[in-house]
Amino acid sequence: MYLPSRWRLLRPLLALVIIFSFFISYIFLKSRPSYALYNTLADDEIEASRKLIRNTRNSRYVLFRQLQGAGFNNQAQEILLFHHLALLTSRVYVYQPIVWRPRGPNALVPLSAFMQGVTKNSVSVAVFNEACSPEDTKHVKIRVNNKVLWEYTKEVLNGHEKCIVVDDWILNWNFLASSALHDIWHTFQNYLAKHFQWSKEIRSIASRAHSVLELRSNSTNTDGEPYVALHLRRGDFEGHCHSLAEGHAGFTTWATLPALQPSVFPPALDPRNGTSIFEHCYPTLDRILAAIDSQVRSKPHLRTIHVLHDGAWDHPLVYAQHYKLEAALANAARAKRAGWEGGPMRRVTHSGKVPLQWGEADWAVTVDVELARRAEVFVGNGFSSLSTQVVALRLGADGGRPEEITLL
Ligand SMILES: *[C@@H]1O[C@H](CO)[C@@H](O)[C@H](O)[C@H]1NC(C)=O
Ligand SMILES: *[C@@H]1O[C@H](CO)[C@@H](O)[C@H](O)[C@H]1NC(C)=O
Repeated sequence: MYLPSRWRLLRPLLALVIIFSFFISYIFLKSRPSYALYNTLADDEIEASRKLIRNTRNSRYVLFRQLQGAGFNNQAQEILLFHHLALLTSRVYVYQPIVWRPRGPNALVPLSAFMQGVTKNSVSVAVFNEACSPEDTKHVKIRVNNKVLWEYTKEVLNGHEKCIVVDDWILNWNFLASSALHDIWHTFQNYLAKHFQWSKEIRSIASRAHSVLELRSNSTNTDGEPYVALHLRRGDFEGHCHSLAEGHAGFTTWATLPALQPSVFPPALDPRNGTSIFEHCYPTLDRILAAIDSQVRSKPHLRTIHVLHDGAWDHPLVYAQHYKLEAALANAARAKRAGWEGGPMRRVTHSGKVPLQWGEADWAVTVDVELARRAEVFVGNGFSSLSTQVVALRLGADGGRPEEITLL
């Protein structure tokens, strides 16, 4: 009969559609954050802010115009600098939520879900008007030449006005890539050591990750194994690197610090040369392996490596590159040729192995930052804000050594 035979044809198709919808729902549910927790945190932020406003009547405040919706680490780097500026000028920092780009331009996550250090003794923008009436608030525009921007901003913020709103975007890309940033490092590293703290959730997932993946979280600890962390920045980066090469861009933020230039894997970056930019921004697997070689040769006890990568269902090729790298790292003959006295890597862990539970997907990127921060050696990408954030935490917050960092 006609109908049954058509059914026979349709059946496999139907099965495929069902499997596919299960797959999509799984990805959707797995990446769905805990909205209940975010709502609680947002309420807690408001309550803590109101208490602070009530208890400190003579405080002065500052609200900055912030970057909206770039990657997490771009936003985080800016927020830390703004918080630092506020503290330097004895103003209360008025914080804004993180814009969570993967869920759209209007998806906001409470800042305290990530950066507890910044939200402590700061005030949420949600209650800014309860601290600052329009009569008490002065709007300013301060964008000036990069060289004098930081000092000039401090001068403005040192003014006697109770509340200042900075209406222009002062820490733009151009400033963050300029050497003007170097003058800030001296005080910023103290700021990181004293004030940087992840949220409770991030600290707890990172500690779970260290223990499940058997990675040693610090040198005085005896659990787990000491490890190298490698940031394999791929995903959407190839196109990005081509445009950086065309625009003759140099490294970003803290990767430009003079103290880190010996950490740049040779040949040195030449921003006038597009090929050189691309070589550093999107290094070949051979170049990445050579950079690891140069660190591991002098540290034969390092036999474990954690690879931070951006492989995902929409960037599946990253996995292929990761597994190629993994095979090379575990290859005894190659290790011998490369002069690794300790032998090849015994264990290769990676971002996909981090033990995240349901509702924790938003924290994956920060847990990776924390794993790279705690590694004995870090091999990162000077064009990536994730890598430069790792570098800032290692050198600034933890007093780490530039020799234990290689920038590709
Ligand atoms: C290192 O790890 C040990 C054991 O977990 C912990 O007690 C100590 O506070 C850690 N030190 C630092 C500097 O994080
Ligand atoms: C540009 O950089 C590439 C890669 O490092 C190098 O091979 C080439 O010689 C450089 N060209 C010039 C003109 O310096």
